[in-house]
Amino acid sequence: MSSTNRQILLASRPVGMIRDECFRSETTPLPEIRDGEALVRNIYLSIDPTIRGWLDDSESYLPPVQIGEVVRCGGVGEVVESKSPNYQPGDIVFGMIGWQEYSVAGRDGQEMNVLPKGLPLTAALSVFGVTGMTAYFGMLEIGKPVEGETVVVSGAAGATGSVAGQIAKIQGCRVVGIAGSDEKCAWVRDELGFDDCINYKTEKIPERLRESCPQGVDVFFDNVGGQILENVLDRINQRARVVLCGAISQYNATEKVPGPSNYMQLVIQRARMEGFIIMDYIPRFGEGIMKMGGWVGEGKVKFLVDIVDGLENAPSAINRLFTGANNGKLLVKVSDEPS
Ligand SMILES: NC(=O)c1ccc[n+]([C@@H]2O[C@H](COP(=O)([O-])OP(=O)(O)OC[C@H]3O[C@@H](n4cnc5c(N)ncnc54)[C@H](OP(=O)(O)O)[C@@H]3O)[C@@H](O)[C@H]2O)c1
Repeated sequence: MSSTNRQILLASRPVGMIRDECFRSETTPLPEIRDGEALVRNIYLSIDPTIRGWLDDSESYLPPVQIGEVVRCGGVGEVVESKSPNYQPGDIVFGMIGWQEYSVAGRDGQEMNVLPKGLPLTAALSVFGVTGMTAYFGMLEIGKPVEGETVVVSGAAGATGSVAGQIAKIQGCRVVGIAGSDEKCAWVRDELGFDDCINYKTEKIPERLRESCPQGVDVFFDNVGGQILENVLDRINQRARVVLCGAISQYNATEKVPGPSNYMQLVIQRARMEGFIIMDYIPRFGEGIMKMGGWVGEGKVKFLVDIVDGLENAPSAINRLFTGANNGKLLVKVSDEPS
């Protein structure tokens, strides 16, 4: 075990896309654990679009990361030393581990969850983790798709969108994705079983939506916001449900972003637009994981994981989410999985 802990700290707040200068690296002695705590060797960092928001000095569902603090993120690691009855050396734990080589479970009341043995770590951070559960609860609890309805998913090839669309297929819906390349669209259609997929970079979305959703749109699971949200709002049916999961097209905006100019569609179509934050569903994750486990086992839900090697690459890796360079759930590997 190393005697030091390499960390990546926020050095300055990004304006627009994240730049390397926004971070600095620091090597500190390994944290000393106290009673009730455990030392965790971090293995995979979960790189999520929401981290971009935490770097801004603005109100959100969690406080901003302060200048000089380790960048916050979820992830998994192995307990290497414990002074807590909750953790045994060798346990694999999930929690807020941060952009660093080691973290402490149980510090300041921040407990981590011990993962069941045998669960692949990359699956625990994707289809059975935050993105999979976001797809599950967002689609089923907010979107409430009904057999025969038409469901559109933006960010359709991403970690959340790809699973959300497959869940809507399982419910018996017509499912149309929107993604940023022909390769991604082909994967969504041919491998995941979506009925169609629109390449928003090369195709005219309004025309293609008319073509692929001849009966209109009953559920829109939106990961992107902006122009795509407006385009889909123009096609919604009466009593449609628009699930606001995220708005990644806006996360690097340097000016206040305009709302959808056609929001009157919600009035005209007696429709509902509702946001949610997955943290509110944590007490129900057991239920979601059980259901998802069945679907993955039956081959009804497939998923991809995109692993970037090395803690030092976390700052550049996060921009892959905004350029669309990631293929599936983006993780940074900090150290090897236990053999
Ligand atoms: N509400 C919640 O609690 C919750 C929880 C988790 C995630 N989310 C949200 O879910 C969304 C997806 O997150 P994820 O972790 O699953 O990431 P992801 O979808 O795996 O990766 C992000 C994808 O967004 C697409 N994208 C980036 N910029 C875009 C733009 N300007 N226009 C259109 N598409 C763009 C890219 O795909 P293309 O190549 O297709 O452009 C990229 O691959 C995000 O909005 C995130 O904030 C919400």
